[in-house]
Amino acid sequence: MEQEILTLQSSAKELLASVEDTAQLEEFRIRYLGRKGQFSSLMKGLAKVSKEDKPRLGQMANSAKKEMEALFVVKQQTLAATNNTTASHGTLDLTLPGRRPEKGKLHPVTQIMNEVCSIFESLGFSVAEGPDVEHDHYNFEALNIPAHHPARDMHDTFYISDSILLRTHTSPMQARIMETQQPPLRVIAPGKVYRCDSDITHTPMFHQVEGFLVDRDVSFADLKGVLTVFTQKMFKKDLPLRFRPSFFPFTEPSAEVDIACVICEGKGCRVCKKTGWLEILGAGMIDPEVFKMVGYNPEKYSGFAFGLGIERIAMLKYGIDDIRLYYENDLRFLSQF
Ligand code: PHE
Repeated sequence: MEQEILTLQSSAKELLASVEDTAQLEEFRIRYLGRKGQFSSLMKGLAKVSKEDKPRLGQMANSAKKEMEALFVVKQQTLAATNNTTASHGTLDLTLPGRRPEKGKLHPVTQIMNEVCSIFESLGFSVAEGPDVEHDHYNFEALNIPAHHPARDMHDTFYISDSILLRTHTSPMQARIMETQQPPLRVIAPGKVYRCDSDITHTPMFHQVEGFLVDRDVSFADLKGVLTVFTQKMFKKDLPLRFRPSFFPFTEPSAEVDIACVICEGKGCRVCKKTGWLEILGAGMIDPEVFKMVGYNPEKYSGFAFGLGIERIAMLKYGIDDIRLYYENDLRFLSQF
């Protein structure tokens, strides 16, 4: 019996040492340590030994089984540890290059928006944001566009109710801010605007940045100066500006401002339709009527305002010819910026 115990113990140790994976380990467990395993039958065999030998042999068999159980647990842990590193992934090739996580980027329109804002901030303008869903009052009335004014036709407005609409421009921020603050004011208001219009140069939602400055003795020359510095910084070129007379109900005089074509620098090309000029914004001196509506004295204060389209600036800067590309969510397009 004694010999039997020793043989069983050494054959069990030998087999355990050769175990290489969890499946083999399980086989080992069933064969030796399971309910019908060899150690169990050994224990049953003890019933047959003499009374005198029983305690000694019983103890011997017990401690042999305990030892095997302990060795089994050790093996189990070693296998688990190596499994985590190599076994389950095959061999580990340390020379392979690492996998870089894909980096997200800001949308090109957001990038240009941020750039425009930081240029005006460097000129001392502060940034204010207003609601996309706006009152007819701020979008039109307070900007000298009363009901039935023909200028309303140009705006292709999305109405929510008779008096609530999606703002068609960022100019309502002029009225909102002047209503609550006193000059001197130097503010830009970036944001989304909405017009019921869609083709290669129009999307129903686009972005504008409104800017205005109100103080004593502000002149058209100040407007020209600010816009000149802006275009130089934005396009990193000393491009000439051209002011064309225009009309907005809330500015007088009003102008549409062109820059020399960023592509051909004025020689004439496809982008500028051979004119050498590109329209980038609308601007003018704030109309005295607008001042009166917010309670400013037009004899005392004057100011200028301008509104520029962000998509348009981004198109010129990057040479994009279809505005709808911005909003198709095609990563092949978006990841280029
Ligand atoms: N709000 C005008 C537009 O959307 C642009 C503008 C802003 C013109 C400020 C003059 C002054 O067309």
